[in-house]
Amino acid sequence: MSEKDWIYVMDDSRLPEGAIAAVYPKGVNILLAKVLGKVYALDGKCAHMGCPLFCSSISGHIITCPCHDWRYDLLTGEFIDSSEIKLRAYAVKAENGRLFVSLT
Ligand code: FES
Repeated sequence: MSEKDWIYVMDDSRLPEGAIAAVYPKGVNILLAKVLGKVYALDGKCAHMGCPLFCSSISGHIITCPCHDWRYDLLTGEFIDSSEIKLRAYAVKAENGRLFVSLT
C-alpha cells in the first residue's frame, strides 16, 4: 500500500456512520460512504445516466441512485441487477483522523 499515491480528501470526523459525501481529488468525482466504521470510495457518477451518487440513499452496503433507483454494492461497486456493470472502486484509508484516496 505504501506505493500508492494517497491524496487527502477530508477529515474522518466529517463523515458520520451511514453518511455519504462527495470529494474531488485531482478533479475526480468520488463518493465516500461509511458503513460499520469502514469507509468506501466509488465513482461519484451513476453508470446509468450520470446522476451524482452522493445524493443516494444508503441501506447497509447498498446505495440507491436518486434518479432512477439503480442500486450498487459499496463493497464491490457492482450494480445489483447485473454485476457486469460496475462503478470503479478506489482504495481509501484513514490515518490520524484523516481520509485519503488513491487514484492509482
Ligand atoms: S442515473 Fe442513476 S439510475 Fe439513472
